[in-house]
Amino acid sequence: MELALFCGLEGAPTFLVPIINPPFADNSPHLPSLLSMAMTEKEKLNARYERIYTQLEGLLRNTGNLISRMATVVALLHHKMPHFFWTGFYLLDKGELIAGPYQGPLACQVLEKNSGVCWAGILRRSTIVVPDVHEFPGHIACDSRSNSEIVIPLLGKNDQPWAVLDVDSQKRDAFSEIDKQWLEKIVRLIPPQE
Ligand code: SME
Repeated sequence: MELALFCGLEGAPTFLVPIINPPFADNSPHLPSLLSMAMTEKEKLNARYERIYTQLEGLLRNTGNLISRMATVVALLHHKMPHFFWTGFYLLDKGELIAGPYQGPLACQVLEKNSGVCWAGILRRSTIVVPDVHEFPGHIACDSRSNSEIVIPLLGKNDQPWAVLDVDSQKRDAFSEIDKQWLEKIVRLIPPQE
């Protein structure tokens, strides 16, 4: 490997100086690996969320309609995130969790009360990350192909939960702290409801 640098003093001609002509083999631990120079998977995921967030900020200005905004959020997330298998909202309606806008395979319309991951998000009022849904007591399997899940509650003005964003993946342990942080930020783009 050979790296070169253009050097030039003000007014002096610019010329090429070889700065590395390493005296070690390409597999040497001293050689900066190509991987460390390329974007890591985490950086790529962050950059993707950043783009989605910016796009959503613009799109959600087009209407104040709740259902339209929720539909826009799930459509964009679902189609831009390869690890999302089912992406949608469940809304609290008269004490029941009812399917709202979603993308992916057909899902349960009503979730059995106080059972499963979505209800856990409502009851705990905090994000639930489930690396393996088969180990989550009471998990409701709307589709047997789901293996991991993340649920983010949406809190109203009085801090009461009124909906959840639910994402399933076919991959085990698909959701990281990066997904959690960004999805929590994204749901805050939906105006809090009573
Ligand atoms: N698994 C969820 C049910 C909803 S689906 O994943 C779409 C739960 O346990 O609450």
